[in-house]
Amino acid sequence: MATAVDPAWLPPQVWRPLGRRRVAVRGSGPLVETVRAEVTDACGRFGGEVVREEPYDLLLELRADAAPDELGDEGFACARDDGPTTVTASGQHGLLHGLFHVVRLGERAFSGRWERRVHRPAVALRVLDHWDNVAVHPVMGQVERGYAGGSLFWREGSARGDTGRLRAYARLLAACGINAITVNNVNVHTVEARLLTDRVAEVAEIADAVRPYGVRVHLAVSFASPVVLAGLDTADPLDEGVRRWWAEAAERVYAAIPDFGGFVVKADSEGRPGPFGYGRSHADGAGALAAALAPYGGTVRWRAFVYDHRQDWRDRSTDRARAAYDHFAPLDGRFAGDTVLQVKHGPVDFQVREPVSPVLGALPRTRLAVEFQATQEYTGQQRHVCWLGPMWSEVLRFRLGDESVGDLADAFAAVSNVGDDPHWTGHPLAQANLYTFGRLAWQPDADPAAVLEEWIALTFPAAPERLADGLRAVLAGSWRTYEKYTAPLGVGFMVQPGHHYGPSVDGYEYSPWGTYHFADRDGVGVDRSVATGTGYAGQYPKPWSRLYESPRTCPDELLLFFHHVPYGHVLHSGKTVIQHIYDTRFEGVEEVEEARRVWAGLADLVDPAWHARVSERYEEQLRSAREWRDQLNSYFLRKSGVPDARGRRIH
Ligand code: GCU
Repeated sequence: MATAVDPAWLPPQVWRPLGRRRVAVRGSGPLVETVRAEVTDACGRFGGEVVREEPYDLLLELRADAAPDELGDEGFACARDDGPTTVTASGQHGLLHGLFHVVRLGERAFSGRWERRVHRPAVALRVLDHWDNVAVHPVMGQVERGYAGGSLFWREGSARGDTGRLRAYARLLAACGINAITVNNVNVHTVEARLLTDRVAEVAEIADAVRPYGVRVHLAVSFASPVVLAGLDTADPLDEGVRRWWAEAAERVYAAIPDFGGFVVKADSEGRPGPFGYGRSHADGAGALAAALAPYGGTVRWRAFVYDHRQDWRDRSTDRARAAYDHFAPLDGRFAGDTVLQVKHGPVDFQVREPVSPVLGALPRTRLAVEFQATQEYTGQQRHVCWLGPMWSEVLRFRLGDESVGDLADAFAAVSNVGDDPHWTGHPLAQANLYTFGRLAWQPDADPAAVLEEWIALTFPAAPERLADGLRAVLAGSWRTYEKYTAPLGVGFMVQPGHHYGPSVDGYEYSPWGTYHFADRDGVGVDRSVATGTGYAGQYPKPWSRLYESPRTCPDELLLFFHHVPYGHVLHSGKTVIQHIYDTRFEGVEEVEEARRVWAGLADLVDPAWHARVSERYEEQLRSAREWRDQLNSYFLRKSGVPDARGRRIH
């Protein structure tokens, strides 16, 4: 039975401009049927008509000969002269995207004139990785780092089989431009490993449910599968028996799911098995899996998140930030077949502020996926409002050499922030992160502010200006606000160990995880310069290697990521580091107070359940922001002995 789904996103009214028209849909195929069904439904609701012949106001047409080279599978052309609005695609998937384009345009799709314009995604793979466990994990639960209820796919060891909800989910994904999902956690535990073999039928059911919206499924697989699933005595990627096993496994997966997307692999990372165990390289490891998928056109996404998680905190020469580059840059050009190296956008771990990973500029002969984290593990766990669009956009526009990260990437992945919560994302406003990921993955140089406007218009069609203003006010600057009250100047990881929610300045300081800030009575930060530190700054091309090398030229927001400086060090802003710490923590809390006030003023304009959920989360955000402010300020006052120049209360 389909679960009732809160329609607060893509609500029926968003279809009104289209649903009032005469619309023709031409072409055939399953995705065209989806388009036709959407149009029929919208016209049924709002009084329009699905027609076969002219006159019509909108023509959605699939034509195999419509400039396939220009449009590709997923692109479409949209035009409007004196006649109707036309959307033309040469692939079915393009027609579906064209439909959602018209929905986004709303009334604008039916007024004025414009030249034919081609829209096509920057990359072919735009995937959400669900870190969902099939069986409830004793520490991580059903969804690792999940803050939106349970899994959409699994419950306590079994497939949920909720195909109605899955179909609704696929529709949302298609509306965002996302075309793939990974249905299980990158940390592949024993039960989940079997999705590749005897439990593949459950994955096939998910694939069937999401296919009508052009969404393909991927699996996270264990590198040790041949050992744990088949009892082979090795998982050595160069062993013939192992390679045969992977080839047969892939064959069975494709027999069940002909359009299966591929594998994502976390190997030699945080205790996961990998090729190092057999004295092989990661190129060898990825190669075995890529060879198995090659006959079917599947992709291996091989994660670059490889570092020593059992480091001795006393050892100042090991630097976790360096690890991915050190491991992978020498392998450039050695990844065979359809392998994509999936690189977290920063060198450490999805902190609120990190430099862009230098790995993205270091492998010109390797296909790359940039990995973002939509689930807000380190950015407020969907109890805080933290719209990540501006951060992601900064990453995508950042230039490494001649190209931007958006240009360098061959795929985009994000860790999903969705669960079975009625609002999909726990915090209703976190839906904006999901939408923004999809739109930036489609067009990496899109203006995030414009994407936010789209999300507002799609979520609250015909919202009065006061509501749109309010939503903009609470969302647009929320990432910077979050940064202000949490770990300062790029230093990161001052979180509670384990669950990573809330402050604990020294929580990871003497741990094996490689995430230190080195605060003492004189200063704070990590020296990653080439001259006196770990050398990490030297992994960047110019001008970044030069800029990051010196505290004089390093951008303020990354200063403590790259340098250990005295508390009295003067930033480009003119403030000392210590005064910056105090001021920004006070400002961050004030900004949350203001956002809560703005939200309270929107009560008459928003669905009561929505409004109540967000209000309740603002209470927690404010409590937590004050906790961050007070712990951080007290810690640094006690360490440094430098009082706040403005004499505010610090504990
Ligand atoms: C973080 C996160 C883990 C996750 C890991 C990964 O460390 O805390 O839960 O498994 O990233 O990306 O693999």
